[in-house]
Amino acid sequence: MSTSEKTPPPLPLLPVRTIPGSYGLPVWGPFVDRLNYFWFEGAETFFRKRMEKNKSSVFRTNIPPTFPFFTSINPNIIAVLDVKSFAHLFDMELVEKKDVLAGDYLPSLSLTGDIRTCIYLDTTETRHAQLKNYILDILKRSRSIWVPTLTTNLDTMWDSIDSDISKSKSGEAFDVPLKKFLFSFLTRTLTGADSSKSPELSEKGYTWLERWLLIQLVPTIKLGLCQPFEEIFLHSFVYPSFLVNGGYKKVAEFIQKEGSQVLNRGVTEFGLSEEDALHNLMFVVGFNAFGGLLAFFPTLLNILGNDKVLQDKLRKEVRDTCKADSLSFGLVMQLDLVNSVVYEALRLNPPVPLQFGRARKDFTLSSHDSAFEVKKGEVLCGYQPLVMRDGKVFDDPEKFVADRFTKGNELLSYVFWSNGSQTESASANNKQCPAKDIVPITAALFVAHLFQRYDSFTVDSSGSKITSLEKATHV
Ligand code: HEM
Repeated sequence: MSTSEKTPPPLPLLPVRTIPGSYGLPVWGPFVDRLNYFWFEGAETFFRKRMEKNKSSVFRTNIPPTFPFFTSINPNIIAVLDVKSFAHLFDMELVEKKDVLAGDYLPSLSLTGDIRTCIYLDTTETRHAQLKNYILDILKRSRSIWVPTLTTNLDTMWDSIDSDISKSKSGEAFDVPLKKFLFSFLTRTLTGADSSKSPELSEKGYTWLERWLLIQLVPTIKLGLCQPFEEIFLHSFVYPSFLVNGGYKKVAEFIQKEGSQVLNRGVTEFGLSEEDALHNLMFVVGFNAFGGLLAFFPTLLNILGNDKVLQDKLRKEVRDTCKADSLSFGLVMQLDLVNSVVYEALRLNPPVPLQFGRARKDFTLSSHDSAFEVKKGEVLCGYQPLVMRDGKVFDDPEKFVADRFTKGNELLSYVFWSNGSQTESASANNKQCPAKDIVPITAALFVAHLFQRYDSFTVDSSGSKITSLEKATHV
């Protein structure tokens, strides 16, 4: 074979451009951007408008939280909004991930026992590898109880919705049964603790976790409440942790007692201190898993609940393949359309919309058509809902195409909801979500279980209520 046959042709060099956009006047620029981001435009329009104005998917802008009370936070970022520039965030040679989960904003450490949890650690910190391996091990070991625990808890959830819906004319809100289900399912599978042993925890555990989660995120998310109330009272301060620490402590004490086996493994097998294992486990359950799935399952219910034709196809696939058999990972992996729908839902509605990374060194960042010089210390910020609609990668990118991922794996490498490609693996050397495989399969199990149990269902226009549930007539 000749040399020219072996070596691929060199890629054409991209033109180097100055990064467009600006941070505006000190204080005023970030303040105006904050109002636009939260109030006048919302995140999606905010990024979309600036991408159009700058004629570039890479540009400079500010992101809240900002002035007046978040004075020590630097809101300056470089937005990366296409698949190619966004992927630099996964390159641990180029970006540092220390304390950058929500940009330059860091919630109070007193919310997590004064411990920096795994998600805030960079891959160069020794504790990152210890903790990531610990969490990967927890997920691996929980596989044997994952499916039966899921289906048992889902049955409880749907029983509760069934009984409420029969009494109500306008439909039944599914958020409380869903939160109870997630709390019980996740504490059992991830910590080994059975929350039904504590009536108080079974009843209130999810509200304690939810408040603790919200207090960490509130300065960074649009809640859609009345303005200027939201700007003045919810986006201007860090709320003190004492407001939520009581509930957090009760859940932590319960896990310490009932999840002692899992915690001890953190100490004996992964070299963690007891405190480190406990607060990280709490964070994984309450923030990563509960927070992530609580954002994703309602999205999935809404997509399906408004599409009868899709429901018919999914029901047929589930019934033909799974029949009335007990669900298993193996069975659900055969459900091509169900899995594709889950990936398409994750593509269009990534539950964690923003990802950040700080440049470790000066480097050249490329988009599809240009190259840009990034300086050490600058913060890159990707807004995934736009990145996942990159028309250079996805045909008809704005449209929900249920079978988009049924035709082989190639497109899956561009699905980034887990802070990495869906075809890569999470490890101690990267910052990809360790639940990158278990989340889509859990969602597929959720859908399969739904269509084993029901023929069809509808969700109302608010997206929060189930208005009808038709029990399966023939399985
Ligand atoms: C729909 C559900 C979930 C979503 C959308 C999600 C998303 C993510 C994302 C985007 C990141 C990277 C954050 C960043 O660095 O910018 C991440 C990291 C992480 N996730 Fe998930 N996740 C989900 C469920 C879970 C579950 C069930 C677990 C439980 C094991 C988990 C554990 C973690 C951990 C420990 C990290 C930090 C990884 C590291 O520091 O290397 N996540 N997740």
